[in-house]
Amino acid sequence: MRIQPVVAAACRQRGAPNEITIENKTYATDSWTNTPPSILAAIPRRLHLQPNHPLSITRQLIESRFPTYETHNNLFPVVSVAQNFDSLGFPLDHVGRSKTDTYYINSSTVLRTHTSAHQADTFRADTSPGYLISADVYRRDAIDRSHYPVFHQMEGARTWDRNNLAQFSSLEDAIWADVHAIPKHSTDVIQVSDPNPTYDADRNPLQPGHSAAEIEAVAAHLKRSLEDMVVTIFTSARSATSASPDQQQEPLKVRWVEAYFPFTSPSWELEVFWQNDWLEVLGCGVVQHSILSSAGVPSKLGWAFGLGLERIAMLLYGIPDIRLFWSTDPRFLSQFNENEQIRRFTPFSKYPACIKDVSFWLPKETKEVDVKDPRSDSDVTPAGGLTSPSTPASSVSATTTSNAFHENDVMEIAREVCGDLIEDVRLVDEFTHPKTGKRSLCYRANYRSLERTLTNEETNELHERFTGLLVERLGVELR
Ligand code: PHE
Repeated sequence: MRIQPVVAAACRQRGAPNEITIENKTYATDSWTNTPPSILAAIPRRLHLQPNHPLSITRQLIESRFPTYETHNNLFPVVSVAQNFDSLGFPLDHVGRSKTDTYYINSSTVLRTHTSAHQADTFRADTSPGYLISADVYRRDAIDRSHYPVFHQMEGARTWDRNNLAQFSSLEDAIWADVHAIPKHSTDVIQVSDPNPTYDADRNPLQPGHSAAEIEAVAAHLKRSLEDMVVTIFTSARSATSASPDQQQEPLKVRWVEAYFPFTSPSWELEVFWQNDWLEVLGCGVVQHSILSSAGVPSKLGWAFGLGLERIAMLLYGIPDIRLFWSTDPRFLSQFNENEQIRRFTPFSKYPACIKDVSFWLPKETKEVDVKDPRSDSDVTPAGGLTSPSTPASSVSATTTSNAFHENDVMEIAREVCGDLIEDVRLVDEFTHPKTGKRSLCYRANYRSLERTLTNEETNELHERFTGLLVERLGVELR
């Protein structure tokens, strides 16, 4: 969907502080700074480490399938642009780098947008052949029941060293020996569809320096390891959802789909057939050799994957709204216990929604900028990340989008004003005046608390502040 831009959308706000302190570290702010205090407030929460929290239980369940992998669960969320993007081969004009998508602390520092930001450093530290990283990640994004500006990912990787083959005579022999050690599941338990060749010169190429035999072995290790992990998760999810868990179940159906990430090749996504739909569960691939060689381990080769913990926890427990993970309400938290079998979440009463529309004119300005369709997930990866090929979504480069209208700025203002009292914001109408050529948009905001009934006064006030800030910050004209 293409929408006209507006001047002055994402400029630094008046009265913004000259520095930001995050857990004893101080950063100078500049014209790139766009991280609001409400986002900074989420940093100390570390939900993936909170005992008996569903995200922590989900993390531990996955970790249990990788017993020999080293875990890194306390990595600091503020990283350099080099760590988050450059080290992974993101092109300079990749839309993920733009201020509309990423929280910048300053021009060279961001809140990590994915756990892959730590790949290069972890490969450089070289303390174990396999590792798992779980962490909070931050993205400016839509507001709805499955998107929240802070969420959690798990990254995993496994490498082998050409210079250290033990008793094996080739790298592929060494890898195949490890493949054979992965638990096997019969076709009564899991049915895997993998119709594509392991690599394809055009669509999913082998990297120079990798032999076909090596990559067949790496891909087999990657796929068998991740299939074993999804069997564990989905078996637990099914026994939590099914009325009579002991009855004979259909085998779990999964499929491998070709994918693209700047930092792996070949690359895949794993999809699972869940409640009558194919659900993307993770992204993965063979690590780009440039990352390993820049990290000082040029003799290594291996795979990496990334997944979104909220998405998995939501289906494991049947949690209907992503905001619930942030709830401190005992009616939520008391339902999870890491020492017990996973049981389906019982929603506590659903409080009434209050729906309000806001329509506004965009100033009649110049260049076109792309805006996400809030209902389309096409640019969201299974890990919730930002790794689609460079820029199909944007007609202007990342560094020039700062004065253009972007829907994420509407979302950000709604979050700033409403916090967790807003469930959903979506574009419901757009219109171009036939004579003046002016463009009008209508967004529908759904106000609802997960914990209580909002009063009319309260929602009116939230909506007024929301629309007031749209005018003030984005320069729109209310209709
Ligand atoms: N970082 C990717 C994302 O956020 C996921 C990924 C990790 C893909 C590692 C491949 C390898 O979507």
